[in-house]
Amino acid sequence: MKLIVAGSTGFVATEVIRQALSIPAITSIVALGRRPASEPQNTGPNADPTKLKSVILEDFGSEYPESVKKELSGADACIWTIAITPSQLKTTPWEHTVKVCRDFAIRGLETIAQLPRDGTAKKPLRFIYMSGNNAERDQTKKPMILGEYCLLRGEAESLILEYAKKSNGAVEACIAKAGLISSPEKPTPMLQKAFFAVIGLPKIQVSEISAAMLRQVVNGFETDTLLNADMVRDGQKFLAEHKL
Ligand SMILES: NC(=O)c1ccc[n+]([C@@H]2O[C@H](COP(=O)([O-])OP(=O)(O)OC[C@H]3O[C@@H](n4cnc5c(N)ncnc54)[C@H](OP(=O)(O)O)[C@@H]3O)[C@@H](O)[C@H]2O)c1
Repeated sequence: MKLIVAGSTGFVATEVIRQALSIPAITSIVALGRRPASEPQNTGPNADPTKLKSVILEDFGSEYPESVKKELSGADACIWTIAITPSQLKTTPWEHTVKVCRDFAIRGLETIAQLPRDGTAKKPLRFIYMSGNNAERDQTKKPMILGEYCLLRGEAESLILEYAKKSNGAVEACIAKAGLISSPEKPTPMLQKAFFAVIGLPKIQVSEISAAMLRQVVNGFETDTLLNADMVRDGQKFLAEHKL
């Protein structure tokens, strides 16, 4: 299968690509980003780096150039990780955050869904939108912490699920609602850890969430929303099965 990883230079995407290189069912990986993506470090003994192709898109807010569309054609699945994260909110104008977190994802989904998919015409495109544990779909319920941002991410979740629902089976969508993601190389600072514990944000390792999303794209979607606890469980299972 051909997998697109959008936001390919990011923290989670890098781990998704690292693992995908060692999964035989994934035969081609398009690393889509505004900067070139290189082969991740610490790939396993079964990794096949020839599967990876870095594709650059300078502006995710405009019509994709034909050259990029050509590279994305035939994809079976996409894991969308592009976002402005909470730590970047203070330095990012709100209109830009809205564009990146919501509009880029919708445009990406619409563009990829409309591209030709030779030989797999009957299989739906599997699209995972990475979101957050506290993203709120009900626009009348503004969370106490990061209220506007949580509503924005929730709105994006709803729009993506709605698009899939109206696609007559052409698209399946799934929302990955992650808690705090860390890795042995990127541990969470103590103060931040304490804050997240107080607000009840669950935790997950980057290896677990990456494996859980890859399990979905390879095996098929069992649900349209993956909660943090589901991803910890499924991720650990998939990591063990595939020795990732
Ligand atoms: N990390 C966590 O603890 C956590 C927790 C819950 C949910 N999430 C969600 O998981 C997803 C991935 O998070 P992450 O930690 O991997 O984030 P990240 O490392 O900041 O990666 C975000 C990606 O988005 C890209 N991006 C940002 N602005 C862009 C723009 N204007 N045009 C094109 N690309 C742009 C970045 O590109 P550059 O590399 O070029 O900047 C990067 O590839 C996000 O949706 C995030 O909200 C993360």
